[in-house]
Amino acid sequence: MLSRRLDKLLCLVPECRILADVGCDHGYVGTEALKRNIAERVIFADISAKSLSKARANCPDELQDRATFVCQDGLADLQCDCAVIAGMGGMEIISILRKAKNLPHMLVLQPNRNAREVREFVSDSYRITQDSKISDGKYYDMIVACICADPPKLSELELEFGADNLSHPTEDFVSYLKKEQTKLTNILHSCGDPDVADRLSRVEKALAICMGGQI
Ligand SMILES: C[S@@+](CC[C@H](N)C(=O)[O-])C[C@H]1O[C@@H](n2cnc3c(N)ncnc32)[C@H](O)[C@@H]1O
Repeated sequence: MLSRRLDKLLCLVPECRILADVGCDHGYVGTEALKRNIAERVIFADISAKSLSKARANCPDELQDRATFVCQDGLADLQCDCAVIAGMGGMEIISILRKAKNLPHMLVLQPNRNAREVREFVSDSYRITQDSKISDGKYYDMIVACICADPPKLSELELEFGADNLSHPTEDFVSYLKKEQTKLTNILHSCGDPDVADRLSRVEKALAICMGGQI
């Protein structure tokens, strides 16, 4: 059974002809996308040969003719309609997109950290169409983006928290903000660090917006 994180991620993958599961590791996302006919074909890519063998072994025989397995760094010169890049650091995701020869039309990204930097980088050439915080033991950001000639500029708060989270806050996002507020308040009491105070004030601003304030 898929984890809540992977299940949510998969729900965000649009129907497409060629999906690249970049940093596929076990290959669960790509395999499930084939099973559910979300993608006609999947390119499983991983920098690690060991991970790629896992993906190949986990992909049922009857789906193998719709699957390609490539051991490489990032997207390189792959051609795909959509790329899922999940479960790695945001700076690695940015580096993969920066080095890609062909930018996919759609992206489904789940950075483990540095989501702000990912939003900033992606919003240069993509419109972020969905951006949600998901709880699955930890909190995960899931960002869906569609290539765009004139993408909208995001505010500082939208870069930090995701525009969708602010305009359509989910229970998971509000619980994330409340936990952050408690954690940062405790840290601030013990150290008085102005950076912590700044972050706390942005978290409280986001909470106020979720409770009905203006973005
Ligand atoms: C923690 S796993 C995530 C697996 C899966 N995407 C998920 O979300 O559960 C990260 C995978 O990304 C791969 N990886 C890291 N950097 C990569 C890169 N630049 N190009 C391709 N694969 C990469 C690692 O080898 C590893 O298999």
